[in-house]
Amino acid sequence: MRVAIIGSGPAGFYAAEALLRRTDAVVHVDMFDRLPTPYGLVRGGVAPDHQSIKAVTRVYEKTAARPTFRFMGNVCLGRDVTVEELRRHYHQIVYAIGNEDDRRLGIPGEGMPRCTPATVFIGWYNGHPDYRDAKIDLSVSRVAVVGNGNVAIDAARILLRTPAELEKTDVAAHALEVLRHSQVREVFILGRRGPEQAAFTPVELKEFGDMEDVDPIVAPEELAGCVIPEEGSSQQEKNLRVLQSYATRQTGAKAKKLYLRFLVSPTEIIAGADGKVAGLALEKNRLEVRQDGSVSARGTGKIEILDVGMVLPAIGFAAKRIAGVPYDEKAKIIANEDGRVVDPASRAVIANEYVVGWARTGPQGLIGSHKGASAHVVEHMIADGAGLEARELPDREDIDALLRQRKVQIVSFSDWKRLDDVEVARGELRGAPRDKVVDVEAMLALLAQH
Ligand SMILES: Cc1cc2nc3c(=O)[nH]c(=O)nc-3n(C[C@H](O)[C@H](O)[C@H](O)COP(=O)(O)OP(=O)(O)OC[C@H]3O[C@@H](n4cnc5c(N)ncnc54)[C@H](O)[C@@H]3O)c2cc1C
Ligand SMILES: NC(=O)c1ccc[n+]([C@@H]2O[C@H](COP(=O)([O-])OP(=O)(O)OC[C@H]3O[C@@H](n4cnc5c(N)ncnc54)[C@H](OP(=O)(O)O)[C@@H]3O)[C@@H](O)[C@H]2O)c1
Repeated sequence: MRVAIIGSGPAGFYAAEALLRRTDAVVHVDMFDRLPTPYGLVRGGVAPDHQSIKAVTRVYEKTAARPTFRFMGNVCLGRDVTVEELRRHYHQIVYAIGNEDDRRLGIPGEGMPRCTPATVFIGWYNGHPDYRDAKIDLSVSRVAVVGNGNVAIDAARILLRTPAELEKTDVAAHALEVLRHSQVREVFILGRRGPEQAAFTPVELKEFGDMEDVDPIVAPEELAGCVIPEEGSSQQEKNLRVLQSYATRQTGAKAKKLYLRFLVSPTEIIAGADGKVAGLALEKNRLEVRQDGSVSARGTGKIEILDVGMVLPAIGFAAKRIAGVPYDEKAKIIANEDGRVVDPASRAVIANEYVVGWARTGPQGLIGSHKGASAHVVEHMIADGAGLEARELPDREDIDALLRQRKVQIVSFSDWKRLDDVEVARGELRGAPRDKVVDVEAMLALLAQH
């Protein structure tokens, strides 16, 4: 059977591995990515100061070394090749395109200069080619990060790291330069619900307390009404203990402050005379327990203005629409039933098309969670695929010829490894694990030279 996987993030790679290691089917996988570089958010999302997480790519390298696997980088579905063409060249298609759009706050002022969505800020400091030219203005002293997930934590941490802390990471060189001259001294992380409902995880929360030049601060009244357990191993219990330690700790002499605030929702982003962010209107919330037991935030009408010069919403992501791929408008994912792509209106299954990862579920779950989840969808593929291999396809290389006709420079896995070597060698010069090439044209030019 010949399978196309679109997207080379964790979900795509785990799907490939689950297909290629089967003993009851011979599967050939072509994995496409719109970038010349593989690994999705492991390269473009995971924070540069969390290098150990990126070691997971060694597992993906083993998959890539399998003889029936091909990486076809720099090929974008919807731009260089259509879904119809893939249907002609492959027995099955797996969409593993992640969630590359931001969710919106939907409040007045969103989009003004210095209101910077998480994808832009994260892509910028991680050297994602789409965001290398983003205008990130860190001439302001106070920043609000909206959201209480780990992405909000990542963004705040990178804003508050010292240049010395950042230099030894693979933060993009252009971002390092701007962060070196950053005037940001205070960051506010804003949760719309309470500390007990926070989505961030204790290890990530605790890290603020170990940073070189940051005091994490929680006003004691933010924890009013929370029952802080002395022990307990749930995420909620551990978070509460870390938050309490921040509430009781002496504010030290560190130059930068991180404030964790709860039960507030932004209602308007306020512009200064220069048309850029100068403040954020926040409504105080109270918690309301719904009939099903879930807890939601309700506005109280009480408004305060937070004096900040930049707003960074980190409130979740959405899958991008691709022409010909059914889209679930409500969930903002590829329409599917348990990984089988369906028509969003009739829910009828679209034969031989599957979806894995964040494109299937929305932006939830760590890298490791995709291993089992992608393998689960592969079980459907194998069950549905019996006899499919009898359908005669064009030669495997015909797709390459089609792409070359369109002047697409396909980047193979060995090309990527050459680029990888260049980045690592450049990184050594500054004592970093790598110095990323952030421009697709430059990557392709480098490959043509080496
Ligand atoms: C900022 C951030 C930090 C994170 N940090 C951690 C962490 O420290 N630890 C952890 O366990 N998890 C972390 N996660 C979560 C983890 O990154 C995700 O669970 C995981 O990457 C999702 O995998 P995926 O394969 O679904 O999508 P992605 O990793 O996003 O991969 C999608 C791939 O599809 C490609 N693509 C998209 N559209 C097309 C197209 N049209 N044609 C061809 N290719 C296309 C993209 O280029 C990309 O390579 C983080 C997430 C974010 C946002
Ligand atoms: N270091 C790591 O391990 C790491 C780093 C980054 C990301 N990740 C993972 O990647 C996934 C995505 O992370 P994420 O932080 O984007 O998502 P997340 O964990 O779902 O957090 C999103 C946050 O945004 C809030 N929010 C949503 N809409 C809002 C609105 N309109 N106004 C105000 N707040 C709003 C949510 O509040 P409610 O709860 O009230 O909805 C929630 O606090 C998670 O699984 C995360 O753990 C892991």
